[in-house]
Amino acid sequence: MELRNESVKMPEAAADDTEILNPDHDQDDAETDKASKIAVQTESLSVFFNERPAIEDISLKLRRNRVTAIIGPSGCGKSTFLRALNLMHEMTPKSRVIGRIRIHGKDITSSSSVDVRKKVGMVFQKPNPFPTMSIYDNVVAGLRLNGKRRNSELDEIVERNLKHAGLWEEVKDRLKAPALSLSGGQQQRLCISRTIAVNPEIILMDEPTSALDPISTAKIEELIYNFKSEYSIIIVTHNMQQAARVSDSTAFLYLGKLIEFSKTRRMFTNPKEKLTEEYVTGKFG
Ligand SMILES: Nc1ncnc2c1ncn2[C@@H]1O[C@H](COP(=O)(O)OP(=O)(O)OP(=O)(O)O)[C@@H](O)[C@H]1O
Ligand SMILES: [Mg+2]
Repeated sequence: MELRNESVKMPEAAADDTEILNPDHDQDDAETDKASKIAVQTESLSVFFNERPAIEDISLKLRRNRVTAIIGPSGCGKSTFLRALNLMHEMTPKSRVIGRIRIHGKDITSSSSVDVRKKVGMVFQKPNPFPTMSIYDNVVAGLRLNGKRRNSELDEIVERNLKHAGLWEEVKDRLKAPALSLSGGQQQRLCISRTIAVNPEIILMDEPTSALDPISTAKIEELIYNFKSEYSIIIVTHNMQQAARVSDSTAFLYLGKLIEFSKTRRMFTNPKEKLTEEYVTGKFG
């Protein structure tokens, strides 16, 4: 089945057009100012598996220091879109990515995935700490890959990042314990510590709380909210309330296409597209 709705206008951005650019700037400066506010831009991004499109022609501009939610029914391409942003399809056989991805203005489509992943971190649905490593070693695993550090420096990094992910108080007395001795919610916060320890600029989260209980979920939602001042976050979620709680803008995908990209409040109260309304009100899913 394919979506054919010619009246659906493919949106470009949930632009915050209310800003007034400094009139003292000339045009070039103004352009630079505007561009520098964009964390991720995709231009006609399509991903094919075995020549079948999983996402088609997605053009989006996602702003810096904002949380963007990606919603849509199962199989509509949410994870495919997210994974494209840190070049994860390179490892998938019979996959093909076309279009452009810019991270802070720079086209990354032909960059090395190692370099891209230093800037674009990812947190997965199922907590995936390195199973044979301790809590401590998990936090610094990415840093060690990027070169050796002094032990005192590592200690400081572990403490800072565990605190930042709201896990320090729970684990400070057992840093050398296996990561797998933690609960699921703690493991997910450990994975978040590991992701932020390499100082990314963008954090991708693919249903980061769908395997967690409500209290762990609330802790992670609070982190996401607080992280906004430092990172740009893109989160895939099936949970409409979660999208409404944590995100500034929301993109709705359906059958691999971007149907609507709006401010979250608008998306859930007064969407532009009928299909969006039907989805957010639970008429299908
Ligand atoms: N590695 C792959 N090989 C072949 N097809 C794939 C692969 N990954 C995804 N697909 C296909 O691409 C389409 C989109 O999948 P994707 O995982 O992006 O959906 P999703 O929106 O994240 O779904 P869910 O909500 O269930 O996680 C699906 O038809 C899926 O079968
Ligand atoms: Mg998915």
